[in-house]
Amino acid sequence: MSEEHIHQYYTPMGLYDRILNGLAKLGRELSEVTLDDLAPVDEFHIRGDEATRELIALSGFAPDMHILEVGCGIGGAARRLAHEAGCRVTGLDLSVEYIETAKRLTQLLNMPEEITFVAASALALPFGNDTFDGAWSIQMNMNIEDKPAWLKELFRVLKPGSRLVLYEVCGHTITPLHFPVPWAQSDSMSFLVPPDAFREIIESAGFALEVWHDKTDLAKIEFAQAKKPEGTPELPILGSYLLVGDDIKTKAYNLRRNLEEERVSLIEAIALKC
Ligand SMILES: C[S@@+](CC[C@H](N)C(=O)[O-])C[C@H]1O[C@@H](n2cnc3c(N)ncnc32)[C@H](O)[C@@H]1O
Repeated sequence: MSEEHIHQYYTPMGLYDRILNGLAKLGRELSEVTLDDLAPVDEFHIRGDEATRELIALSGFAPDMHILEVGCGIGGAARRLAHEAGCRVTGLDLSVEYIETAKRLTQLLNMPEEITFVAASALALPFGNDTFDGAWSIQMNMNIEDKPAWLKELFRVLKPGSRLVLYEVCGHTITPLHFPVPWAQSDSMSFLVPPDAFREIIESAGFALEVWHDKTDLAKIEFAQAKKPEGTPELPILGSYLLVGDDIKTKAYNLRRNLEEERVSLIEAIALKC
């Protein structure tokens, strides 16, 4: 599957303007927009900002560090990390539209000094060896078929002794998945491996696993109320449907089924470049 196909999925038109329209409808003055105002749309992962804050606490990332986020979307977690941990962050994503939106939202929040965004592929990181003091990736491995190449790239750009934080959707015991899901319209864009296989790929890239938490039960709770939509579902003013389409409720319902039927799991991990 070509990256172009994945890129198209994550290319909504006029995203920044649609977010600004949403903020206006919510009565927010642009000069007063906060990280919390954007969280419903810019933290596009299971358990959103709550999970990001847990990852920050777990990561040990500190103010003097330069952290790489791979698959940063429109930058919500990168901005939260820079704000909470005080570190410098570089966010990278395949989607040019997402990266443009990430830059403009970061300017809107007056945070451009702390965070840089780059449009590129996780499989060919445009950075030298041993560049970063840490890295994280939040729910993007699902779109990566060549996971060994992705993890080897992360290993290459990290300094020895630094940590890679992963919060990632994996497969489970049953296949296939119910589609569409939030990260893919069909199985041509989704490449899940079970947690044990994922562990092996991480270790084969040279990392030593320090932390491995199964977060599937929390994901099940998050999606327990997701119902099969009927008619035209009502959507919130700001939400992840702005990123991946108006069928988001069908995607959420299918994710619920995939979690409950042991087709999908969720892991949180820390891996060390020794
Ligand atoms: C489910 S979204 C999660 C976005 C972000 N991490 C968040 O939590 O808001 C997956 C992201 O991975 C990005 N992505 C997929 N394949 C990629 C690749 N090969 N290189 C870089 N980014 C990629 C997509 O463009 C998308 O922004």
